[in-house]
Amino acid sequence: MRLAGGVAVVTGAGSGIGRALAMRIARERAAGIVVADLDGGSARAVAASIGPTALAVQCDVTSEEDLRALLARAETELGPVDAFFANAGVAIGADEQTPEAVWDRAFAVNVRSHVTAARLLIPRWLDRGRGCFVVTASAAGLLTQIGIAPYAVTKHAAVAFAEWLSVTYGDRGIQVACLCPMGVDTPMLRGDSGGDVMDHAAAESVRRAGEVLTPEEVADAAIAGIEGGSFLILPHAEVIEFFRRKASDYDRWLAGMRRLRTAVEPPEPRR
Ligand SMILES: NC(=O)c1ccc[n+]([C@@H]2O[C@H](COP(=O)([O-])OP(=O)(O)OC[C@H]3O[C@@H](n4cnc5c(N)ncnc54)[C@H](O)[C@@H]3O)[C@@H](O)[C@H]2O)c1
Repeated sequence: MRLAGGVAVVTGAGSGIGRALAMRIARERAAGIVVADLDGGSARAVAASIGPTALAVQCDVTSEEDLRALLARAETELGPVDAFFANAGVAIGADEQTPEAVWDRAFAVNVRSHVTAARLLIPRWLDRGRGCFVVTASAAGLLTQIGIAPYAVTKHAAVAFAEWLSVTYGDRGIQVACLCPMGVDTPMLRGDSGGDVMDHAAAESVRRAGEVLTPEEVADAAIAGIEGGSFLILPHAEVIEFFRRKASDYDRWLAGMRRLRTAVEPPEPRR
């Protein structure tokens, strides 16, 4: 799908990868870009830097009411939505002892919000015969994430939902893409946002796994992948090889991940 002349929504667009996606889509000469974020101030700042084609919307993606209002505003002020980038995500919690409320929030942001957005958009896109749904999952959704079970689990679910959408609607005019980067230099990985960030060992495991890309490099890969019609978009080329190794010898792959975990974890056991 080409984004030129269309209307795109990017969630989590006030920071990091979402911000870079919104700016990159603007360069593709989209007719309109909705810059949506829980943090209305950062959404407004990104929209202002893009210019008159951008519309800032404060939106909690876990709220169906907010998503409905976002799509209504987008349609009224910019026109029908052609592409939806379900990018907002959180890296929260640690392990099986993490409180239920944190697990629930990880599922709400990283998985359920994509389901809600698709529920609202797919019927419109089936009527129009076209649409593009892009999920920012993670390499953690294909492999794992050391130190953050809720992240590893919900990102697998995000990949599974994107796959399912593609299988179900891919031959009815709806393009689905799944963006799965490893490390990207954003507040989430750097730990300098003061909000949802990875703990030190988790972030260190990501840094050891491969090069940390800039959000702009990830956005470039995303746009190239979408325009080329790819489902799986891997800004880090080595991820496909890691994924192959996991599939071809699961036990060996698990042993390698355990070695990486012990290398990055603090020396004292957590409990
Ligand atoms: N940074 C990485 O290394 C990395 C790697 C792979 C995948 N990802 C994924 O990329 C996506 C973007 O992450 P990032 O690294 O740019 O992080 P980031 O923290 O820089 O940006 C995330 C944005 O999402 C917004 N957000 C959080 N909860 C929200 C909600 N309920 N509703 C609306 N907006 C919400 C935040 O306000 C923030 O602006 C996430 O899905 C993340 O899991 C990140």
